[in-house]
Amino acid sequence: MGNVYRASDTRLGREIAIKTLPPALARDPAALARFEREARFLASLNHPNIATIYGIEEHDGGRFLILELVPGETLEAVLARGPLSLDQTLKIALEVATALEAAHEAGIIHRDLKPSNVKITPDGRVKLLDFGIAKNLPSATDASSAATVTRVGMLIGTPAYMSPEQIRGGEVDRRSDIWSFGCLLYEMLTGRRAFKGTTYIELADAIRNTEPDFTALPERVRRVVMHCLKKDPTDRFNNIGDARRELQEGEPSAGRSGIFAAIISAFRNPRQERQPSPPVLRLVSRWRGDRLFPRRRRPPEVVPENSRGQRTAVDQR
Ligand SMILES: Nc1ncnc2c1ncn2[C@@H]1O[C@H](COP(=O)(O)OP(=O)(O)O)[C@@H](O)[C@H]1O
Ligand SMILES: [Mg+2]
Repeated sequence: MGNVYRASDTRLGREIAIKTLPPALARDPAALARFEREARFLASLNHPNIATIYGIEEHDGGRFLILELVPGETLEAVLARGPLSLDQTLKIALEVATALEAAHEAGIIHRDLKPSNVKITPDGRVKLLDFGIAKNLPSATDASSAATVTRVGMLIGTPAYMSPEQIRGGEVDRRSDIWSFGCLLYEMLTGRRAFKGTTYIELADAIRNTEPDFTALPERVRRVVMHCLKKDPTDRFNNIGDARRELQEGEPSAGRSGIFAAIISAFRNPRQERQPSPPVLRLVSRWRGDRLFPRRRRPPEVVPENSRGQRTAVDQR
């Protein structure tokens, strides 16, 4: 939903990420409410695996989230090169689970867990991003609001990771994130999405009525993935901590430092050393000059959509 830019806070002398609402949504009260909710949720979460928010600013009627700049690649970019090993998958999955656990404990469900919302830093740390359609647990049980936001979610995100209850527009709780976590695990291990469809209807049908090929998974984690992907939420893990513990029990204890080193090299991204692209530089200078919007009255970058989700200026460096 947002456009994200790399920028520089000249007062505090640090690199930051700025997330803006696209102009088409800047005056949409529902989009603004989601944006502010994202800011509040991030502010209430203080966790090493969740990107930190530094503030929310307003300028010329536009609103901006000022975020910790998370370097590295999204999990989506990593998976575009193929599946991960079991060790790499476990390392990432455990950190994602820890982040989700913290959110759930704070009463927040993410509702949009997918590879483009997970970033891997060059030193191998995992950061969960994008609480843009997250929701407080109590209100998520309100059927009318759940349906509304699910409708919005279908418009702004890929539904491939949505649980059967979310795709139906039904009640959604933390177990819906557990489903998405199962989809993530499946994709990391096989390089394929757990549920596919060329149209929305086909995809929704696959999510509700078909099972992925679980035999493609290593035996040690198969049960965990199957348990996350139970169609009926009452059959799923009741909380993400249980899934994490089960994954941990199956985790090999030997060679952690070796695994860590392998992940660091696998995720080191030479693109990061490059200078920011011209649109980003323009934004930086605007920020420095206290003028965020260009003299040309349009935001710096039109965000293209690719087949697997939005890319942003940060992605396009
Ligand atoms: N704090 C951040 N640091 C670095 N890159 C980020 C940050 N937040 C988002 N991004 C990048 O921007 C992309 C889109 O941001 P996201 O918050 O997921 O917005 P959207 O609602 O558009 O999906 C992410 O996939 C990631 O590549
Ligand atoms: Mg996103």
